[in-house]
Parts: sequence; C-alpha cells; structure tokens
Amino acid sequence: MLLYFFSLFRGTMKKLFYLLLIAVPVIVGLQSFDRTDSAPTIQADSVCFTRDVLPIINSNCAQANCHDAISRKDGLTLTSYTGIMKIVRAGNLNTSSLYREINTNAMPQAPYNKLSDTMKTLIKNWILQGAKNTTCTTTNCDTVNVTYEGTIKPIITFNCMGCHGGASPDGGVDLTNDEVVDANKERILCCVSRPTDCALMPKNNINLTSCQIAQIRTWVNGVQSSVNNNDPLIEYLTVTPTILNESGKISFSIQRDERVIISLFGYDGREIKRVANDMYSAGKHEVTLQAGGLQQGVYFVRLRTGNAVRSAMFVR
Ligand code: HEC
Repeated sequence: MLLYFFSLFRGTMKKLFYLLLIAVPVIVGLQSFDRTDSAPTIQADSVCFTRDVLPIINSNCAQANCHDAISRKDGLTLTSYTGIMKIVRAGNLNTSSLYREINTNAMPQAPYNKLSDTMKTLIKNWILQGAKNTTCTTTNCDTVNVTYEGTIKPIITFNCMGCHGGASPDGGVDLTNDEVVDANKERILCCVSRPTDCALMPKNNINLTSCQIAQIRTWVNGVQSSVNNNDPLIEYLTVTPTILNESGKISFSIQRDERVIISLFGYDGREIKRVANDMYSAGKHEVTLQAGGLQQGVYFVRLRTGNAVRSAMFVR
C-alpha cells in the first residue's frame, strides 16, 4: 500500500519536473519580452482610444492627401486602430514612430498646425498604458448645461481643428477661429448629424458620439426640455392654461430691469419662434402666447434674462 502511494508520488513528481522544465523558460522568456517591448506603466487616468486618441489622429494625420484611405502617404492609413498600430509599439515611446513624429513636430506637416501639448500627452499616455483598442461609453451626458468654451470648443478642438486649421484649412473653413465657428453653427450641426444633407464630419467614417451631437444641437438650437438654473433673478414663470387651444398666457416676474428673451421650443429642442425680446422693468408681466398654428404635442417656453434661465412646459 505504502509503496503504491510512493510510486504514484514519484510519477507525479516526474510530471511536475517536466512541466517545470518547459514552463520556466516560457515564463522567463515572456517576462524579458515584456520588459523590452511593453513596460507596463499604469497611469491613474486611463486614456480611451476611440474617445481620446482616434479623433486627434484622424483630424491631424488623415486629411485628404495625407494618411487617409485614398492617399495612404507612406503606405499608412491612420483612420483605424489597425492602421495606427503599424506605427505604435505598445508601452514603448522610442520605437513608436507615431509618437516620435508628433513629439518632434516633424508631423503634421505644413500647412497644418502641430499638435498641442495636451494632445501629445494623451497619445503618450495611451501608448504607455498599452495602446489598447478601448471604447468608452459616456455615462453622464449633460445636454442642457452646454457652453461654447466648456463643451463645444473642446469637441471641435479634438475632432475638427487638425483639418480645419493651419495656413490652408480644409473646405476653406477655419474652425480655430471662434467667429467662424459661430457663423457656421447651422452648417456644423448639419455636417455632424445629417449626412444626407451635408458632407459627414469628421471625415473618414468617424462619427462624433451621440452625446456630442446632442450637445452641439443644444448649442445651435437652444436648451432642450425643462431648465431651471435657480437664478433668483427670475421669480417665477408659468404658462396658463397648461393645455392650450388657440392662445394662452405667459406670466413671469423678474427682480430688476433687464432684457428678457422668451422662446417657444418643440419637444425635440427645435426653437419654433421668439415670443419676446425686449427690456422689461422689475416686477410682474404677462405676454400672450399664440398657439393656433402648432401641431398637437408637448412644448416648452423658455425665458432667459441676465444669467438666469427658466422653462415651463405646456401641451397643445
Ligand atoms: C480629416 C479631415 C477633416 C476633419 C477631421 C473634419 N473635416 Fe470638415 N471638411 C473637411 C474637408 C476636406 C471639407 C471640404 C468638403 C469636403 O471635401 O467634404 C470639409 C468641409 C467642412 C464644412 C463645410 C461643409 C459645407 O457643406 O460647406 C464644415 C462646416 C465642416 N467641414 C465642419 C467640420 C466639423 C464640425 C468637424 C469636426 C466635427 C470637421 N469638419 C472635421 C475635412 C475635415
């Protein structure tokens, strides 16, 4: 009995020995490969490829005549993960020619602008974090508190300015100029959201996220749905009756003399008409709301004055 166990044990030991004989070099080999080719530098903030890296590279490297699918300069198509990985070694900045080129400002070439330090750092961190093909979903999409400086300009900076900047911006549209952006609002919304009516932007079959498109829509059309930023300048805003036939009454009160803009919005955030745009004195006021021509549905009246915003809903 004892002998039986002993021989069993010896058999197992033998197998273990052989297993180790194979496993040790494999593990050691993998480790040395790891050290030379992808030092796993883990950063606190994780860069997301589709959200943070692809838009920058598309806009700054994949212009027509450069590294897009048609021109393929130097045999490179930098509009997808696979294409970009031809010039990236995960974890290694020295052997990643993508990083070398942008860091030394060898690329992008004139007439396009160089990358900003923020963009270079994003790409650097992504490579150091393993250059993974990560996709991220936006969980907190704020489509109400949209500002040009805080919301829209970053979207345009990272997704559009590479092509639409420099000495000879694509399409003749210089989106590094705030006034040009403002003058092209409607066109920009059309280009990012209605490919049947306008040229789809950004190019190369890359879309903005649905959150970014919704934010641009708010910026162009005004604030959607019910908004109340609790600024005490507006004491109240009501629409009566809440179920309207031909016409109703908008009542509001403001704390000081101020310009007041009242707009009528559809449920989709489309501004239907301006109801008022005038100076009003401090105190209570009433404005007539004509609803005769409206289709049945849910609508919003929005009042803006100073920095205060308030909305009221009604049904037709
Ligand atoms: C890869 C380069 C590239 C990127 C990125 C890009 N564009 Fe363009 N854009 C062009 C080119 C080229 C044109 C000229 C028209 C065409 O060829 O489709 C153009 C034209 C336009 C026009 C004028 C279109 C018209 O119908 O008159 C607008 C507006 C525009 N782009 C907005 C944007 C916005 C907004 C973004 C970012 C979300 C963006 N573009 C990103 C290359 C680009």
